[in-house]
Amino acid sequence: MSFSLAEVPSQKGKIAIITGANAGLGFENTLRFLQEDIKVIMACRSAEKAHTARAKLLAVVPNADLEFLQLDLSDLASVRKFAQVYRSKYSKLDYLVNNAGIMVPPYSKTVDGFESQMAANYFGHFLLVSLLLDLMPDTPESRVVSLSSMGHRQGQKRIFFEDLQWEKRYSSSEAYQQSKLACLMFANELDHRFKKAGKKILSVAAHPGATSDTDLVRHIPKLLYFFIKHLVMPVISHRVSSGVQPQLMAALSPSAQGGDYYGPQKFNEMKGPPGLAMKLPYSEDEVMMQKLWDISVKLTGADYGELA
Ligand SMILES: NC(=O)c1ccc[n+]([C@@H]2O[C@H](COP(=O)([O-])OP(=O)(O)OC[C@H]3O[C@@H](n4cnc5c(N)ncnc54)[C@H](OP(=O)(O)O)[C@@H]3O)[C@@H](O)[C@H]2O)c1
Repeated sequence: MSFSLAEVPSQKGKIAIITGANAGLGFENTLRFLQEDIKVIMACRSAEKAHTARAKLLAVVPNADLEFLQLDLSDLASVRKFAQVYRSKYSKLDYLVNNAGIMVPPYSKTVDGFESQMAANYFGHFLLVSLLLDLMPDTPESRVVSLSSMGHRQGQKRIFFEDLQWEKRYSSSEAYQQSKLACLMFANELDHRFKKAGKKILSVAAHPGATSDTDLVRHIPKLLYFFIKHLVMPVISHRVSSGVQPQLMAALSPSAQGGDYYGPQKFNEMKGPPGLAMKLPYSEDEVMMQKLWDISVKLTGADYGELA
């Protein structure tokens, strides 16, 4: 299974929300969407960063239809406000790319009492999707794209239901791995629910392998960061222009199927052209997916309507 933007039909009239559009993969995803004539809503937490990024994007694609709306995924009230503002301006949504994420920060809890990585990477997106889903046309061209990671197959390889917010002990890397596993389980469970409800809209997941030129490593200690950046990444990673391909494939490939998971195909999925990626069996465990969904509904207050 391969993918090239050349196979994508005209996207005129399509509208997308990309979370974390101001940096890294979100920025690159936004650029590629604009080049395909898709209107993009940059869902970012920092207005200043979003405006700087918007100016850079417009310098490359001058006639682009590009708007910033404020969204802090680590605050459920902000997620609700974002959805409210979006709905007051638009009556349709074709692509929702749940791209934003943080990795290995020091321990902190959000205003809602969530561990920060679970909040920004997972719970915020879980609520966001529920608030916008009814605006998405029921066709296979409408996509909810969730960003996971090779990391979902590492560490404890499970959801810590007994201590979901890491209150008893905190491992920043295990918390990241868990949050990315949760993103993939969400994509799988959403796909199941779409199919069960007879919906045609697709839930597709992707991971970018090891993508070097993004800001994701900002919380890694400086010495370790220097080592990784100069000795490890040049060997194992690819550039963001390549790293973005799996999520573009998830959003735009005419042959994508609901429940697919795309990632780079070389070096144990660390780099290379996009294709089907490996899923941890746990991510498709129906009992665990259901359990995570139910807890997420309870903790975020999300209402999935006919998918509930
Ligand atoms: N790079 C990789 O090798 C790699 C590997 C596997 C998976 N991923 C996944 O790919 C996605 C993008 O990562 P990246 O490498 O592009 O990282 P990045 O350059 O750090 O970009 C992350 C984006 O998410 C935004 N963000 C973080 N917390 C947010 C919040 N609470 N509300 C709204 N936006 C928030 C950031 O905004 P600010 O600029 O304001 O912080 C930034 O725009 C993430 O989901 C990550 O887990 C990346």
